[in-house]
Amino acid sequence: MKTIEMNTIENLKWRYATKKFDASQKLAEEEIDILKEAIQLSPSSYGLQLFKVMDVRDELTRKALQPAAWGQTQIVDASNLFVFAAKTKFDDSDVDNYVHLKASSNGMDPSSFKGYSDFVKGKLSGMSEEEYQNWTKRQVYIALGNLMTVGAELKIDICPMEGFEAEKFDEILGLKSKGYTSTVNATIGYRSEEDSTADSPKIRKSVEDLFEIL
Ligand SMILES: Cc1cc2nc3c(=O)[nH]c(=O)nc-3n(C[C@H](O)[C@H](O)[C@H](O)COP(=O)(O)O)c2cc1C
Repeated sequence: MKTIEMNTIENLKWRYATKKFDASQKLAEEEIDILKEAIQLSPSSYGLQLFKVMDVRDELTRKALQPAAWGQTQIVDASNLFVFAAKTKFDDSDVDNYVHLKASSNGMDPSSFKGYSDFVKGKLSGMSEEEYQNWTKRQVYIALGNLMTVGAELKIDICPMEGFEAEKFDEILGLKSKGYTSTVNATIGYRSEEDSTADSPKIRKSVEDLFEIL
C-alpha cells in the first residue's frame, strides 16, 4: 500500500466555521499576504478572475457592515474581513485585459490571441446579465475554498459567511458604481477560547454517501 504523507486532511479537520473570534489577536501582514496569494493563484473560468476582494480594514466601516450581516460578531471581532465581490456586467475589456496580460507574460503580441479572444467574448456576451452574475459569483467560491484551505494549513481561523444583505454591503462599500456585487465574506483571525463550537464534532455525510462510483 502506498504511504501518503500529508497534513492537509488533519488541518481540514482542525478548521471550523469560527463563531467567536478573539478580537485582541491580529494576523501578521506576512500571513495576510500569503492568504491573498492563495486567492490570487486560484483558477477561474477562462482565467479571467472577474472578482475583486475588498480587504476591509476600517473599523467604522466594519461596524456599519455588522447589522447588514445579521449582526454576526465575526464581522467586527475577526482580525480581517475579506468581502468577495463578483463583476456584474460583461464588457470586452474583461477579455482584452486578460489577453494583454497573457501576451506580455509570453512576450507575444496580443493579436496572436485574437481567435481565442473573439471566442470568449462571443460566449460571455451571449449571457444574460443574470447568467453572467451567476457565473462570476461561482468563480469566487473557488478562491474562497483555497483561502480556507491555506488558512487551515497556517492554523488561521476563517468563517465563510453568506449571512448578509448584499445590497447593503454593496452600498456601504460603494461596489455598485465599480461594477461589482458582494458575494461571500471571509472573516479571518484566531478563535476565542470561549468559542465552544470549536469542540463540536464535524457533521459530514460519509464519503460513501457523497460519492457514487459508476
Ligand atoms: C458559503 C458559506 C456560507 C456560510 N455562511 C455562514 C454565516 O453567515 N455565518 C456562520 O456563522 N457560518 C456560515 N457558514 C459556515 C457553515 O455553516 C459551516 O461551514 C458548516 O456548517 C460546516 O461546519 P464547519 O465549517 O465548522 O466544519 C457558511 C459556510 C459556507 C461554505
